[in-house]
Order: sequence, then C-alpha cells, then structure tokens
Amino acid sequence: MTGIQIVGTGRYIPQKIVTNDEISKLTDTNDEWIRTRTGICQRHFSEGETNADLATAAAEKAMKAAGISPDQVGTCIVATFTPDHISPAVATQVHRRLSLPEHTPALDISAGCTGFLYGLTVARGFLLQSERPYALLVGSEVISRVLDFNDRSTCVLFGDGAGAAVLKLSDSHPFTSVLGCKGDDQMLGCTNAPGTERQRIFMNGSEVFRFAVETVPHCIDDTLKKAELSPEDIDFFVCHQANQRIIASVIRKTHLPEHKFYLNVHNYGNTSAASIPIALDEMAEKGLLKPGTRTLCVGFGAGLTWGGAVVEW
Ligand code: UT7
Repeated sequence: MTGIQIVGTGRYIPQKIVTNDEISKLTDTNDEWIRTRTGICQRHFSEGETNADLATAAAEKAMKAAGISPDQVGTCIVATFTPDHISPAVATQVHRRLSLPEHTPALDISAGCTGFLYGLTVARGFLLQSERPYALLVGSEVISRVLDFNDRSTCVLFGDGAGAAVLKLSDSHPFTSVLGCKGDDQMLGCTNAPGTERQRIFMNGSEVFRFAVETVPHCIDDTLKKAELSPEDIDFFVCHQANQRIIASVIRKTHLPEHKFYLNVHNYGNTSAASIPIALDEMAEKGLLKPGTRTLCVGFGAGLTWGGAVVEW
C-alpha cells in the first residue's frame, strides 16, 4: 500500500504568553493547582489574529521547510474546532493567501483534538487522486475566543497555536492509521454557532480523563498491531498534549519507556488539533526526526474521537 512521508513541518504560536498566575487573575484558580493537575505552566493567546492567520503562517513555514512552491500543492486541509466562520472553511482562506492552484481542493476537518490524525488519512486519500504531489495539512486553533472564564475547570487548560505538515505519497514510507468515534455530544464540545449566542467550551473533565486513559493505550496497541510492529520498533510516541497526568497514566498502563514520550503541554496548554503537529515541528527542529525514525502519534477528543498513526521519517 502506498504510504505517506512528511517532508516538512512548521508551527506558528501567537506571541502573547499567559502564565498560570495571569489566568489566576481571570478566574478562581492558582498556579499550583494547574501545574499539579495538568502539567501546564503557560499558554499562548492570540491578540486579534484569526485562525486563518495562524494556519497560513504555520503552512508557509512547513512549505519552506519542504522546499516546495504553491503550484506543487494538490490538497489543503485544516483541522480545527475554532474556525473563523462556519463557512467558508479556514482551509479556503489558507488556499487564497498562499495562492494555491485553483484545482486544489480545500476543506476543514472537525474531529476535535483528533483532527490532525483524521487529516493524515483524508490527505492521503486526496493525494491518491491529485495531479500534484503535495498535501498541506494544518492543525490550527484560536481556543482563547471560546473560553468561558466563569468555568475554571476548562478555561485554564487551553491555548492557541497552529502546526502544519507537508505530505507526499511514498512507497518507501509505510503509513498505518486507526481511527474511531463513540458518537457522544455531552462530554466535550463547543456550544453554539458563531454569530448566535457566545460560543463556549464545555467538558466533563473527569469523564474525558477516564475516556483518554482507557482509549489511548488501546489505540496504541491497535495501531501497533495493524502496522505489524512492536513497541521497540517505535522511536517516539507523540500523544495529544491535553494533560501531563494523562500521558503519565498511559506510560504506567502500557509499560512503554517514558523517554520515548514527547511532552510540551507545559508551554502551550492544550491546543487541540494543533498539538500533535506543533510537537512534530519542535521535534524536527531539535533534530529528533531523522530518516527512518518511526513515530506513533495518538490523539483523542470531542466526538468522542480517537486515532493513532505510525509515521516514518
Ligand atoms: O483535549 C481533550 C480534552 N480534554 C482533556 O483531556 C481533559 C481531561 N480532563 C482533565 O485533564 C482533568 O479532569 C482536569 C484537569 C480537567 C480536572 O482535573 P481533576 O483532577 O479531574 O479535577 P476535578 O475535576 O476532579 O476537580 C477537583 C477539584 C474540585 O474541587 P472539590 O470539588 O474537590 O472541592 C474542583 O472544583 O478541583 C477543583 N477545580 C479547580 N481548582 C482550582 C477544578 N478546576 C480548578 C481550577 N483551579 N482551575
């Protein structure tokens, strides 16, 4: 089966840093609670920058890293639950700003924090019937504008940012993915359409926590089985960065080595669909992703959705 290769990554994080102490001025919380319950020390908030601004900036960096020009892009996908409008999609604005060719489809994916993982499989499908070799896949969120500072159990958790990847089909880079959904609309989501009542995040934190610590180990296992690989074959596990305690629990349950788990939730909070591509771009920048490196990415989120993917570099 034709696989996919990630040939370039990029990220764009808004400049404004909001520390836990600053969040404590907006809601009834404190630095110690946030750090010990989540591992989060700070997050970044957009100051007027739109989702399309973040997504385009990350996509530009990924294209530069890949050394490709707009006329080589055959697919443009943005995974997000905080689009600027219900319609048109953020991806269409990225398409316009990057001057992508007209015969390049552009669409958003709404799969919560699992969006980037759903996006890998969707992008591969589009590439199989594209005339041009590359797909742009972006995870981009401006979650600060849907935070409810009267709800301390959610507003301390999230941050804004975008991560992007340029993909191409490759026979020498096997790609395996496992995707799922429970069909739930009560546990985690974002209420209301833009332009009606104010949008806000809602979450049953302890239930989502339980869902995550049960689902992620199974998802890792299923993905390894489907790829016919053992844990030793994986160089890095890149989990959706929602809570350091969720990742610690996954490590305990799976007995996988801690040093193989990438962690950056302390710097960004939960950036939903952007968290995995931001992590991948940081890893690329640190020189961790060399040719042949195998990463297993795993995510979970609203829907309730989940997904795992083995990506070889
Ligand atoms: O991206 C995918 C979706 N999101 C997640 O993966 C999040 C999953 N859930 C979680 O990470 C955790 O459930 C939370 C971090 C949201 C909450 O942690 P917890 O250890 O499950 O806390 P809790 O909800 O059981 O609350 C414990 C206490 C409560 O006080 P009482 O009832 O024990 O007196 C809360 O009212 O902590 C209180 N609390 C807070 N205190 C200070 C809740 N939020 C805060 C806060 N600051 N921000």
